[in-house]
Amino acid sequence: PRRIVVLISGNGSNLQALIDAQQTEELGGEIAAVISNRGDAYGLVRAREAEIPAVVLPHHEYDSRERYDGALIKVIDRHAPDLIVLAGFMRILTPALVQRYHGRMMNIHPSLLPAYRGLHTHQRALDDGIGEHGASVHFVTEELDGGPLVVQAAVPVMSDDTAETLAERVQTREHLLYPMVIRWFLDGRLQLAGDRPRLDGQPLPEHGLR
Ligand code: GAR
Repeated sequence: PRRIVVLISGNGSNLQALIDAQQTEELGGEIAAVISNRGDAYGLVRAREAEIPAVVLPHHEYDSRERYDGALIKVIDRHAPDLIVLAGFMRILTPALVQRYHGRMMNIHPSLLPAYRGLHTHQRALDDGIGEHGASVHFVTEELDGGPLVVQAAVPVMSDDTAETLAERVQTREHLLYPMVIRWFLDGRLQLAGDRPRLDGQPLPEHGLR
């Protein structure tokens, strides 16, 4: 089977969606390992309960981003993944790491990119009073939250939303989107060709599928 390595920093609800998809054979491959930069990430518990190798690589034990990413590359490569999946991995990656996995690393981001790159996306969306928010899956490039878009899911913003209720609505969609896109990749249907992803040979629109 094709293999993925999942990088997390926290709760790991997206990881859980991938574990569930693997168990029902809807993932199209297996999760070879989970790596966290934080030892207290709840996603590590989810991995261990699913009997998936879980590795903690604490960033504070390294004195530079380059050294940390060098160690991260070693752990990732030990598991020989076809695809590296960022699932709430809250670190900026070095160009060396990004280039090494060009075309085989994906991220999920809690906004309709290119809107709201970076952190606190739900609160920023509420502060702006926009009517529509969402999540995006994209290939990772050196531009932070700027890589080629594969799919987006939109949700409405309600007048009584808090950052928490909005995040929950967005995450429900994330949990459907991410296993679907990963399966496309593992089945060989999705590739990054130049700067545009292709699905079944067709270039995707600039903002990805909706
Ligand atoms: C997800 O909503 C994901 O989109 C976001 O973190 C959350 C992780 O939740 N990612 C980013 O903000 C990346 N910059 P999870 O740990 O429950 O999957």
